[in-house]
Amino acid sequence: MALQNINPTTTAAWNELTKHFNETNSITIKELFQKNEQRESDFTLCLDELSVDISKNRINKQTIDLLVELAEQVGLKDAIEKYFTGDIINVTEERAVLHTALRNFSDAPILVEGKDIKPKIQSTLKKIRAFSNKVISGKWKGYTGKAITDVVNIGIGGSDLGPDMIVESLQFYKNKLTTHFVSNVDGDHVQEVLKKINPETTLFVIVSKTFTTQETISNANTIKDWFMRSASVFDVAKHFVAVSTNLEAVYDFGIDKNNVFPMWNWVGGRFSLWSAVGLSISLSIGFDNYQDLLKGAEKMDTHFRSANFDQNIPVVLALLSIWYNNFYNAETEAILPYTQYLSKLPSYLQQAIMESNGKGVDRNGDVISYQTGTIVWGSTGTNMQHAFMQLVHQGTKLIPADFIGFSESLYGLTDHHKKLMANYKAQMEALAFGKTKEEVHLELKTCGLEEKISQLLPFKVFEGNRPSNAIKFNKLTPFTLGMLVATYEHKIFVQGVVWNIYSYDQFGVELGKELANKILKSS
Ligand code: F6P
Repeated sequence: MALQNINPTTTAAWNELTKHFNETNSITIKELFQKNEQRESDFTLCLDELSVDISKNRINKQTIDLLVELAEQVGLKDAIEKYFTGDIINVTEERAVLHTALRNFSDAPILVEGKDIKPKIQSTLKKIRAFSNKVISGKWKGYTGKAITDVVNIGIGGSDLGPDMIVESLQFYKNKLTTHFVSNVDGDHVQEVLKKINPETTLFVIVSKTFTTQETISNANTIKDWFMRSASVFDVAKHFVAVSTNLEAVYDFGIDKNNVFPMWNWVGGRFSLWSAVGLSISLSIGFDNYQDLLKGAEKMDTHFRSANFDQNIPVVLALLSIWYNNFYNAETEAILPYTQYLSKLPSYLQQAIMESNGKGVDRNGDVISYQTGTIVWGSTGTNMQHAFMQLVHQGTKLIPADFIGFSESLYGLTDHHKKLMANYKAQMEALAFGKTKEEVHLELKTCGLEEKISQLLPFKVFEGNRPSNAIKFNKLTPFTLGMLVATYEHKIFVQGVVWNIYSYDQFGVELGKELANKILKSS
């Protein structure tokens, strides 16, 4: 049975939320803190070393209760079970959505079309481990007998963004292999990578679910031509491996049968880093670390599937985002990690979130009259404080923001880390509480600028009352990164259920591809 198709705006909870919004939207975050000294602890959710402080939002306890009521009235509980147990919830493509099965280390079977998929997941993991070990240890030799030094991942969208983001984020854990990513059909991109590598010591991982994607196949062919300038056709198998569902096309390319890693149509491209699409990750940080990433995601899966909605981290984050998107009419959300390692997280999440929930037709096939998919964007702190944060603090738009922080740095430079985390805290405080006229007045007076007060005062006031979530882990590890990514995946799912849309197809990217092919043929 598919998901229930309920227009959220027709529910009693939506009605109540509208009333509640009208009654509470003039109450400020500052007032909410003044009324409740324990607000921070009352509004902090925890799971292991992860804490999510949602106290700096324009909400009270009733807001959460009503949002949870909304989730219940659209059938979220039932939807979550269907998601985890392999129902065909991607109805338009007639597929299950089972990226969670890829990191399910329990013994329980998971059925797709009546067949347990766990054995093939386990055998693929074994294959990834054996292959990674062979390459990392130097036992896998290139065509001149030398060990591999570089890995090039050739893919685009979900076959690129996930592995690229994780490899960048976990570079602290990386081994001696250097990993490169080629995605754009822009030939300059591939050329720049080719400049850095040696064909004798490079392994190419072609990642394409369909093995027909224009960008990936063009790049793979260009790289193969380049490779064949110094090697022969018999050497291709030693240097090219593939992750794909399209075996025929992979063999045609010259890839050895044993070096093909499977993908399955019950895993969407943008959720595939947990599958063999993560091969470049396992090569870069080793299989054990890769497995820890999966285990972190599994931890979040278990929490998401079992925790009460008002304590459920992905559910609450999704509902808060709906609160701002649909009641406050916020246009965008910012994702602001306070670690340089997570610099690629915002673009990774742009695909995951916007390709999933950027839909204007509901599950009944009707055009939607309310707002759906959020626009997400962001960058790392503190760099972005010196770039776009001016607009977030004093601009005319309400931009809810996720601040992602870690209590410890990886290299232990405590002086830097104290400064970094002071900024993390300060930004959220400034957004929430701002600076009043009285405070600005006093400040200018203290600085001896009394005569400038009337001129400068309006520009120096911060109205505050701008919402943020403080998402904090102890340390950036493969495990905690797995938890973080899975949190956003489930947030996407919850929002899709509430907005009554299909989150797992992406027909919106097709028209541009078709037209580009037509233009190409006629040019
Ligand atoms: O652009 C759409 C898309 O289908 C993404 O969803 C997917 O991640 C990407 O293209 C790559 O597709 P493939 O893995 O088939 O090359």
